[in-house]
Amino acid sequence: MPRQLSLGLASSLSDIVLGEAAVVLRGFARATEDALLADLAHIAQAAPFRHMTTPGGFTMSAAMTNCGGFGWVSDATGYRYAARDPVSGLPWPPMPTSFAAIASAAAARARFPSFEPDACLVNRYAPGARLALHQDRDERDFTAPIVSVSLGLPATFVFGGGTRSAKSVRVPLEHGDVVVWGGADRLRYHGVLPVLQGEHSRVGAYRINLTFRKAM
Ligand code: SIN
Ligand code: FE2
Repeated sequence: MPRQLSLGLASSLSDIVLGEAAVVLRGFARATEDALLADLAHIAQAAPFRHMTTPGGFTMSAAMTNCGGFGWVSDATGYRYAARDPVSGLPWPPMPTSFAAIASAAAARARFPSFEPDACLVNRYAPGARLALHQDRDERDFTAPIVSVSLGLPATFVFGGGTRSAKSVRVPLEHGDVVVWGGADRLRYHGVLPVLQGEHSRVGAYRINLTFRKAM
C-alpha cells in the first residue's frame, strides 16, 4: 500500500507549518487579489493612511488605516481599539465582503472554523519601513486567531516564541501569502524586517498587510 504523505496542518505542499496552530498559506489570496485591491483603494480614500505615534513618542514607520467595526490605534496615551477614526471622527469604513471572506476562508483552512473578524488593520510599508517584534494582545479574547494577508512587495516575517528572547524563524512572504496563527501560538512574538526597495506590478513600491482580528 502506498504510504500517505501527512501534511498535518498544511493543506498544500507549499504551505509552511510554523507551529501547532500557525501556518503560512502560500498564495492563498492570489485568486481574489483584484477584489482585495479595489476594496483597499476605497478604504484608503475614506480613511487615509497615516503614521501613528507610539506611547513612547516614536512615529511608526508603517502607515496604517483600518476597516471594520473596530480599528487599532496608537497614540501618546497607548494602544487600543476604537470604533471611530480619530483623524476624521467617523466610523471606520465597513469591512468589505472580499476581506471578510478571505479571512474566514484562511482561518478555516488553518482549522479555525467560523472566524468572524470585527477589525482589519491595514499596514502599508514603503521600502525601509518595518515592524518591531511584538505580541498582538490588545484583543479581548485570545481564542480567535490572527489572519494576516500580504500584498505587494515581498518582506521577511519574523515569527518568534512566547517570550521576546525566544528563538525565531524568518519567513519570506510574498504577494498573496496568508499567515494564520491562533490557539497555542496566538501570543507568539512577530515582526517584519525592513522592506527592501522594489516595485510590484499591482501595488507599486509598497508592501500592504491586512491583519484580521476579533477585537471585541
Ligand atoms: C502585524 O503584526 O500587525 C503585521 C504583520 C505584517 O505586516 O506581516
Ligand atoms: Fe502583530
